[in-house]
Amino acid sequence: MNKKIAILPGDGIGPEIVREAVKVLDKIGDKYNHSFEYSYVDIGGCSIDKFGVPITEEGMRLCKEADSVLLGAVGGPKWDDCPADIRPEKALLAVRKELGLFANIRPTKLFPQLASASPLKQRIVGGGIDLLIVRELTGGAYFGEKNSIEVDGETVATDLMIYSTHEIERIGRVAFEAAMKRGKKLASVDKANVLETSRLWRKIMHNLKDEYPQVEYSDVLVDNCAMQLIKNPAQFDVIVTENMFGDIISDEASMLTGSIGMMPSASLSMTTLGMYEPIHGSAPDIAGQDIANPLGTILSVAMMLRYSFNMTNEADDIEKAVDKVLSDRYRTADIMEDGYHKVSCSHMGTLVTDAI
Ligand code: IPM
Ligand code: MG
Repeated sequence: MNKKIAILPGDGIGPEIVREAVKVLDKIGDKYNHSFEYSYVDIGGCSIDKFGVPITEEGMRLCKEADSVLLGAVGGPKWDDCPADIRPEKALLAVRKELGLFANIRPTKLFPQLASASPLKQRIVGGGIDLLIVRELTGGAYFGEKNSIEVDGETVATDLMIYSTHEIERIGRVAFEAAMKRGKKLASVDKANVLETSRLWRKIMHNLKDEYPQVEYSDVLVDNCAMQLIKNPAQFDVIVTENMFGDIISDEASMLTGSIGMMPSASLSMTTLGMYEPIHGSAPDIAGQDIANPLGTILSVAMMLRYSFNMTNEADDIEKAVDKVLSDRYRTADIMEDGYHKVSCSHMGTLVTDAI
């Protein structure tokens, strides 16, 4: 197969981790006779420095024309004081919106080899963690109207949290379908005791639940969910929630596994075009040192092959290779423990590539 991939390395450790993921893609291409054609696009701070905007129109066009998009990470302290409309993060939100990437899929899995890296006690995580967070990605407060106005001599700021029926219904369907393919359990996370958007959310989820009688459904308030994730994470199978709650809960959940550096994600649209990225950020403090963990990005490439290109064997190969390298006791600094082999970011990429 011939596939066009837009590659957006971004800022901080982005370029280093993406380089390793591309190594893996090239290896898959060789092994299975696929041709992956890359177009590199600047996004975030590096684009602000070069072009004065966090992504150019040409960059956006290359993303839209690609079969899928691979992203490293954006942002860093250097651009923290940029005006709101040219911040690095703005480009990420713009790509999500323009490509219609409304469904963000964040699998949170504890690799048995890394069980002792979890900050939680063994009696809590010992049975393993395997949950899937489905986060709505193009609505809510992140996209609602924003304002900052002067009222009675002081500044008042607002972010409108807004959801329409169809936005909730389409993400709900993604989550119910995902639950049907997994453990058939779905927790819908909201704040319906306070927010009107959450009351609409809950109503629509309840309508859907009647269409999926095999799915064991529950409503969980977001504050309670934050607590339950620490108290008893194994109770969850699939979690579906709105944009901001999902942003927060997914960082929390990833930490249960010990390293946010391991976690991939997929942002999906109504078509096969998707964007794939690790859930961690640009980690400017360790950028350029070749010590970052590339596995979250490499596992994101596996998700790309699976979800956008329907290349199941190829995706399995990558996941198995990561598993093997971990079993062979190789670790990057973030997951390093006594008695293991400490490797750099590029060495980790090579190990995975060689294991394919
Ligand atoms: C994420 C990130 C982004 C988000 C930022 C960088 C805009 O935190 O993908 O979770 O909030 O969605
Ligand atoms: Mg986040």
